[in-house]
Amino acid sequence: MVKLNIAEINKTYWNGDVYEPSDDTFLLVDVLQQHAEAWVNKWPRCCLELGSGSGYVIASLALLLRQLAGPSFGWPAAHPRSCQLLAVDQSPAAVEATRTTLQAHKVTEVDVLAANLLGPLMGRLRGSVDVMVFNPPYVPTPDEEVKRGGIASAWAGGYRGRRVIDQVLPLLPELLSPRGELFMVTVTENDPQGIIEEMLGFGFQGRIAATRQADEETLQILHLWRQPPGLHHGAAAAGQ
Ligand SMILES: C[S@@+](CC[C@H](N)C(=O)[O-])C[C@H]1O[C@@H](n2cnc3c(N)ncnc32)[C@H](O)[C@@H]1O
Repeated sequence: MVKLNIAEINKTYWNGDVYEPSDDTFLLVDVLQQHAEAWVNKWPRCCLELGSGSGYVIASLALLLRQLAGPSFGWPAAHPRSCQLLAVDQSPAAVEATRTTLQAHKVTEVDVLAANLLGPLMGRLRGSVDVMVFNPPYVPTPDEEVKRGGIASAWAGGYRGRRVIDQVLPLLPELLSPRGELFMVTVTENDPQGIIEEMLGFGFQGRIAATRQADEETLQILHLWRQPPGLHHGAAAAGQ
């Protein structure tokens, strides 16, 4: 197995208005790094990060794909494979930080946009996202915190930490391509196993790809993908 490079923390930018890369960020990137070789045979043509913050995750994803697209994985240097990469954040400070981090890594192949969730992008992206990554505001808080704005919107997730997550999950059937997949950070209070069961009803199956104990929370990376055609709703849950 070839060791694939990811973004460097000393080339990653954030300030007091932008989420500092933390255990959740690093766990998400670890899972992307471990999973990346699967994309050699299932090349993603469109990748999206929702809530890019400092840009550490999208810079890592772009670097992983750049390595997979080249000669080490059998693709001629003169004709590397390409992928459309998009990063979205509702915070102007985060958009700026993502752009700065990408520049510091000499990554030019990512479009960075300011939008609330997917805003006006939904029409353009419908059915085309092959890989989506999302480290949401997942911390359980009073619901009022979710709309407080500022840095609180990087972490405040309202009731069970699900207020933003539950706006995004119903978008997946329309947003993801037929082979599309989502990698999303959760904590135990978000009930990731319950999310997997709920998403069966939308034609998805899933697994907990990683778990890590951090200071005050137990983190998971939830990996969701579409059920193969013909698999009956609920059949995967029942192990059929
Ligand atoms: C937990 S931080 C993750 C930042 C970065 N991806 C990381 O892993 O370090 C969540 C990010 O989502 C953004 N965000 C929160 N609500 C959003 C929304 N409704 N639309 C777009 N971005 C949102 C925040 O501004 C913040 O940058």
